[in-house]
Amino acid sequence: MQELKITRPDDWHLHLRDGDALKAVLPHTVRQFARAIVMPNLKPPVRTVDDARAYRDRIIAAIPEGKKFEPLMTLYLTDNTTPEEIIAAKAAQFVKAVKYYPAGATTNSEFGVTDISRCDRVFEAMQKEGMPLLLHGEVRDQAVDVFDREKVFIEQYLIPLRTKFPELRIVLEHITTADSVQFVLDTPNIAATITPQHLLFNRNEIFKGGIRPHFYCLPILKREQHRQALITAATSGNPKFFLGTDSAPHSRDHKENSCGCAGCFSALHAIELYAEAFASVNALDKLEAFASFYGADFYQLPRNTEQITLTKSTWQIPDQVSFPESELVPLWAGQELKWRYIEN
Ligand code: DOR
Ligand code: ZN
Repeated sequence: MQELKITRPDDWHLHLRDGDALKAVLPHTVRQFARAIVMPNLKPPVRTVDDARAYRDRIIAAIPEGKKFEPLMTLYLTDNTTPEEIIAAKAAQFVKAVKYYPAGATTNSEFGVTDISRCDRVFEAMQKEGMPLLLHGEVRDQAVDVFDREKVFIEQYLIPLRTKFPELRIVLEHITTADSVQFVLDTPNIAATITPQHLLFNRNEIFKGGIRPHFYCLPILKREQHRQALITAATSGNPKFFLGTDSAPHSRDHKENSCGCAGCFSALHAIELYAEAFASVNALDKLEAFASFYGADFYQLPRNTEQITLTKSTWQIPDQVSFPESELVPLWAGQELKWRYIEN
């Protein structure tokens, strides 16, 4: 096979930032994807429908001339989010989900939820309105080993939440473990996004020959057995698993730092990275549904109709791309990839 034609994909988990950073990264996503679920972890976060409307306007203003792209907005859940805000969000239509970050778990999460039991009235409203809840599924307890924080989150928080609100539609974001795959398979009304880095790498990659900060993200990469479980899930043709890059740009100096930021930048070459992962297990025939169908189906949105083409031709991921006052190092910079997306 020399050419792979698929329906234009959507990115169901994306960080676009704001201001000049937004202007620098958005064109990369627009080049490959028709729509994206935009994370609300700005500083300060996108907490209300008004915040989301203003952010959406800034994103739309940053779309390159002549290009089409639809930002799908999310609200950042806090201890103070009200059921009324959920009703307003549903009515506004451009807000597609609400994101839960445990306070302090990751980048710009200091406004996040300190005690999930405070959110019961909001979850009730979300369940009633059919508003999906997106979970950063890690406990913030520093006493829990960083490699176990996702598993412990499921046990301590997700299972009770599922029992209390069985109809609430949940996306467990950027899953990293076999335990999460199994939980999603076994539980109704829950789906999961999977990033390219968690499909391509295990935790050894962070320490290959020295410390490699561009492979550091949260949740952190896990053991090989977990990577394999994710590959199996993503290529299984099960609609509960779909594409979400979690492309999370941080400038080179913020990554290559004595306390480097978490996040991998993959918007530049997202679909090619997924193609590489799917090709590694001879499952390119499963890429289209994972990248372009199942996410839209979960969010009850129409599937895209336009097609894109991936060509079998070797190319090298650039060492850097431009970013305000610095540069961005793409995930797996310098690596040769076998599939290439060429814009129409
Ligand atoms: O690695 C990550 N980066 N994980 C997150 O949860 C947040 C993200 C970011 O915003 O940089
Ligand atoms: Zn994220």
